[in-house]
Amino acid sequence: MPVQRREFLSSWMAAAVPAQALAPRSDPSAWRADFPITRERVYFNSASEHPISVHSARAMKEYVDYLTTDLTRAEWVETPKRTADFRDARLREIRTMFARLINAKPSEIAFIKSTQSGENLVVNGMDIRASGGNVVTNDLHYESCLHSYKMRQKDGLDVRIVKNRDWTIDIRDLERVVDRKTKLIATTLVSNVNGLLQDVKAMSDLAHAHGAYLFADIIQGAGAIPIDVKALGIDFASCSTYKWLMGLRGFAYLYVREDLQGRVVKPTEFSGGVRFNYAPWSSSPDTGSPDFGVTPRTGAAQYEVGNVSNVASYCQYESLQYIERLGIENIRAHVRPLTERLRKQLPALGYRCITPQGNESPIVTFQVKDPKATAERLRKANIELTLRFGNQMRIAVSVFNNAEDVDRLLQALA
Ligand SMILES: Cc1ncc(COP(=O)(O)O)c(C=O)c1O
Repeated sequence: MPVQRREFLSSWMAAAVPAQALAPRSDPSAWRADFPITRERVYFNSASEHPISVHSARAMKEYVDYLTTDLTRAEWVETPKRTADFRDARLREIRTMFARLINAKPSEIAFIKSTQSGENLVVNGMDIRASGGNVVTNDLHYESCLHSYKMRQKDGLDVRIVKNRDWTIDIRDLERVVDRKTKLIATTLVSNVNGLLQDVKAMSDLAHAHGAYLFADIIQGAGAIPIDVKALGIDFASCSTYKWLMGLRGFAYLYVREDLQGRVVKPTEFSGGVRFNYAPWSSSPDTGSPDFGVTPRTGAAQYEVGNVSNVASYCQYESLQYIERLGIENIRAHVRPLTERLRKQLPALGYRCITPQGNESPIVTFQVKDPKATAERLRKANIELTLRFGNQMRIAVSVFNNAEDVDRLLQALA
């Protein structure tokens, strides 16, 4: 191998520093510099898409450089083996880090493409319609997922959608519709509408008391708030990495409780390498063995189909390490006073808050009286957030935001 190329590869692979070797970053004022977007604008839109840190950007750039100038898949070159080992080691560590983040086992985590595909894998794998069961959900679940349930309803599935009361879900409303035929309660952990942290423990208790299971869409929580799937009684969960996990679209996780894998949720899509044991496929077929062989995947990996995105997984590896180094409790301690200040001061400026008081999430949503004028003020002040559903203004606060960002927002809206 030419020296230049060898040096390049070893620098790319040297990035495999184990998480524990990195210093913890407990000083929030230093976090801001990790996110160059803070030099460009005031960004309060991480609930839509989280900016990438310099660390994740570096990992992606190194990989893109490798793809640009160094890619080879030739079997007689040592590189493919080394890159495959590197990729596999990354995926193992990612599985472990994400499992740790939500208090699951690595064998309970599958790599999938999106949050919604995770929910679909669970619902399809449970085959609820065939068993005559019903699904209970609520209107603060993600809108596309509600659409998916509506489509299933047309197909004959019994779906019960509980409506919110003044932007919270009353567990008594769920109790009224759950019955012995309920197979699944599906909900967001944190609502993408108003950031409501739903009472998932009460929902899972309700589900389990009726022999049903609990699915949680955790995309607006993972990376931003503490999540303990065991303590919350969550049986299945999914999330993409492009929000609070500081990753890319197209790379996501599915959590399936160990004892429910393959039994309650059957895989409905299949993958895996096939071995043909006959000529001309095999130069030396084993006459005593079947023509066709495949090693089945075990654990949650049985729900995985196809290759995962290398660039997204290298990005995610850095981001998970970064989140671990910051610590979820430190992240919450940094974000909480910022959202609390917005909660206190924006109503006095005429913006009604539709996020409950004391809510433990990084999202606060307000109603605006004049959405067009508000959009114009935000544009002039170079502030990015989500304005939608006619009159809602969603503010999402992350690790790189600070008190000056909040000052600028309050000034712009005053
Ligand atoms: C609560 C919630 N669920 C699901 C999604 C969509 O996620 P994905 O693209 O991973 O399916 C979003 C995206 O905004 C969301 O906010």
